[in-house]
Amino acid sequence: MSHSVELHDIGMTFGTTRAVGGVSFTVESGEFFSILGPSGCGKTTILRMIAGFLNPTEGRIVIGGRDMAGLGPDQRPTAMIFQSLALFPLMPVWENIAFGLEARGPQRPSGASGPTNC
Ligand SMILES: Nc1ncnc2c1ncn2[C@@H]1O[C@H](COP(=O)(O)OP(=O)(O)OP(=O)(O)O)[C@@H](O)[C@H]1O
Ligand SMILES: [Mg+2]
Repeated sequence: MSHSVELHDIGMTFGTTRAVGGVSFTVESGEFFSILGPSGCGKTTILRMIAGFLNPTEGRIVIGGRDMAGLGPDQRPTAMIFQSLALFPLMPVWENIAFGLEARGPQRPSGASGPTNC
């Protein structure tokens, strides 16, 4: 099953602040995708909308062919590592990333212990 992530003309306005506007892209299953831009351009807001922590004020988010409107973070096939204050300080980077994925059920392939250099 494809788990492509599609953003269709997504926008987010906080009061009078237009944090994100007119963002559309598709991330195919298995693709590595980065969002780059200056501080305050809306990167975290986009991620929070994909993960379901914010509801877009405009546009649609479709994951695996399913419209995510109205679905909370626990109902989406997503995991998010927050920018700050929400990492497990005693875990290395790999374990912080793996934690959310493993909590959802899929186990690591046998023998996989993660990168040794991070
Ligand atoms: N909850 C909020 N209420 C009001 N304004 C917000 C809120 N969250 C973000 N903003 C504003 O939306 C804009 C985009 O913020 P965002 O955090 O998405 O930027 P960013 O690209 O992740 O920045 P950085 O690189 O500094 O992490 C900024 O102007 C920010 O002040
Ligand atoms: Mg940010």
